[in-house]
Amino acid sequence: MSNFRFPENFLWGGAIAANQAEGAYLEDGKGLSSVDLLPTGENRRSIMKGNVPSFTPLEGEFYPSHEAIDFYHHYKEDMALFAEMGFKALRVSISWARIYPTGEEAAPNEAGLKFYDDLFDEMLKYNIQPVVTLAHFDVPVALVEKYGSWRHRKMVELFETYSKTVFARYKDKAKYWMTFNEINMLLHLPFLGAGLAFKEGDNIKQIQYQAAHHQLLASALAVKACHEIIPDAQIGCMLAAGSFYPFTCNPEDVYQGMEKDRESYFFIDVQSRGEYPGYAKRFFRDHGLNIEMQPEDAEILREGTVDYIGFSYYSSRTTSTDPEVNKNMTTGNVFGSVANPYLAKSEWGWTIDPKGFRITANQLHDRYQKPLFVVENGFGASDIVTPEGEVNDDYRIDYLKRHVAELGEAIQDGCEIIGYTSWGPIDIVSASSGEMKKRYGYIYVDRDNEGKGTLKRIKKKSFSWYKNVIASNGENLGE
Ligand code: BG6
Repeated sequence: MSNFRFPENFLWGGAIAANQAEGAYLEDGKGLSSVDLLPTGENRRSIMKGNVPSFTPLEGEFYPSHEAIDFYHHYKEDMALFAEMGFKALRVSISWARIYPTGEEAAPNEAGLKFYDDLFDEMLKYNIQPVVTLAHFDVPVALVEKYGSWRHRKMVELFETYSKTVFARYKDKAKYWMTFNEINMLLHLPFLGAGLAFKEGDNIKQIQYQAAHHQLLASALAVKACHEIIPDAQIGCMLAAGSFYPFTCNPEDVYQGMEKDRESYFFIDVQSRGEYPGYAKRFFRDHGLNIEMQPEDAEILREGTVDYIGFSYYSSRTTSTDPEVNKNMTTGNVFGSVANPYLAKSEWGWTIDPKGFRITANQLHDRYQKPLFVVENGFGASDIVTPEGEVNDDYRIDYLKRHVAELGEAIQDGCEIIGYTSWGPIDIVSASSGEMKKRYGYIYVDRDNEGKGTLKRIKKKSFSWYKNVIASNGENLGE
């Protein structure tokens, strides 16, 4: 499959997030993060939506981020494996609460800063470029308690201080940055996406869009600071992408598909074009939302437009205005999609649509005319270790192969694409379910949903598959 050679300098690699990999959740002075309050099990979804029972971890609950796969202490071993696969880039996130444990200290936490210094040095030793996300689903809990997180404008200033601190510290080491991971997640899982916890009687929509405005300002200020402090860096936004298909050619379905896409595009329109689109202003009016903005905000947004569009793609989505069709929703998809009868699903109910990857990339490129960076894509499945100690994950190879082939098509269609960092190159905690069982890696980690296991790393069959893909620059995807 595929005889297409990807562009020279294409950044092949993988992507992880601090809270899903590092563990060491209070080590070396780190403060508690919002994500450290997400247990496994049935309460998780409701907390991610903003029903937060407590701002300290509760007895009797298991919190997978607290230890995760202990990347904090295993990163050297893991980096050697990434290097063996030939990685050109590794996407990681910085945990804000490692740098400013309560978000408001006068000086940053040196031990936290040193950890990322060492991590980036280890990457650079192997010529692996750090691709760094400033906020991947984490907010210091102290800021959630004191300000209600991103609903408060104070967060903009605190985030600016944090971003300037890390730009200044890592300016010689990291040249690819991203502001907020899956910024549109704020509308679907507001506590996960933006640390928003709600009380009885809160006007949730109003709070969400006010918080979105603050994140957009913070993103713009971070972009500006990055350009000033690291002139040779590129900084992007990050969208949880996957275009909506209308279920039928009924114009009502088509229109609804457009509206659903705009719910997500809204963020990127502001981050990429530097102003609120007309349809967003109408949406605020129609829903009686009154977003507080200061006179200087328009200029901040205008001056802080991103260099590239980072996005995750797992599947397309489908929408219908027909109540009968809407009875058949896909499970596991936070974006609310009806089942697409043409497409298969993963064990976790996520739709599998390689062609949708090409469609989504083309639509994003047509819309923004900026380079794209695929910073997440992958297949979550439960793997079995054979008695011989092998993991034969042909299903993962199949998913990735078909997606990388479509990515090659998108490049041939004219999309400029900087790189591809597949999600979870080593097994890490699942964001949506908190499980270890939902694995994405080329490297298996011996740890289960209850936190038991030796943490031993085992190469899966997909390890050598991806190594060949990278070595052939995408030309050799296997049969
Ligand atoms: C994205 C997130 O939503 O999808 C990641 O940016 C997440 O943090 C990934 O892990 C896969 O989702 P899940 O729920 O299978 O881990």
